[in-house]
Amino acid sequence: MLKMENIDGFLREMERYAREHEVPILTEAARPVFSQTVRRTAPLRILELGTAIGYSALLALRESPGASLVTIERDAALAETAKAFLQRAGENYAARVTLLVGEAENLLPTLSGEFDFVFIDAAKSRYPDFWLGVQSLLAPRAVVVADNVLFRGLVEGEGSEAWPKHSYRTMVLRLREYLRIVRTAPGFRTEVFPEGDGMAVSWRDE
Ligand SMILES: C[S@@+](CC[C@H](N)C(=O)[O-])C[C@H]1O[C@@H](n2cnc3c(N)ncnc32)[C@H](O)[C@@H]1O
Repeated sequence: MLKMENIDGFLREMERYAREHEVPILTEAARPVFSQTVRRTAPLRILELGTAIGYSALLALRESPGASLVTIERDAALAETAKAFLQRAGENYAARVTLLVGEAENLLPTLSGEFDFVFIDAAKSRYPDFWLGVQSLLAPRAVVVADNVLFRGLVEGEGSEAWPKHSYRTMVLRLREYLRIVRTAPGFRTEVFPEGDGMAVSWRDE
């Protein structure tokens, strides 16, 4: 089992693994925004859509020692890798994680209770559906964080005026829809951080 002070080294090992195996995880630029948002929220129940190898899950748990986390991954092989990493991180982490294997859109309706921190980091073309799917699971003061919302600068701002090329079109249009939804959602305040690929943080203020 890893001692608390060794978790940073373990996260570096996971970053190397992700690089070598070309698994997309939180970019270096986006990590501080993510970590600070977790710290600021001090969540007790975290929900993550898109586990990959468990990197952001572990980071979130490092930043919120009292929290438990439910994470959903559709790729069974990646989920196995995540499980192995979490086990190696030790009981203090592994015991706090419930890893569900399957499509987030199918598993969300099976969840119950309230989450005070939701991290959306799965299929970008499904973000509007994920937003809808988590609404009934949100605590009154929840925060919903979505990664990659500016997708390579194609979603909004300078350089996004051209009609996106065919292979990205659906994704870009759905990400624009996501930003429109969160910015106009009653009871939420949203800030979009440009770091990395863009991270939308929506605080529920009710
Ligand atoms: C960007 S990666 C997640 C990275 C991870 N959150 C991190 O930063 O360490 C996205 C993951 O979402 C998974 N995924 C994509 N669509 C999904 C869906 N509909 N349901 C569940 N998982 C999905 C992919 O298999 C992939 O592993």
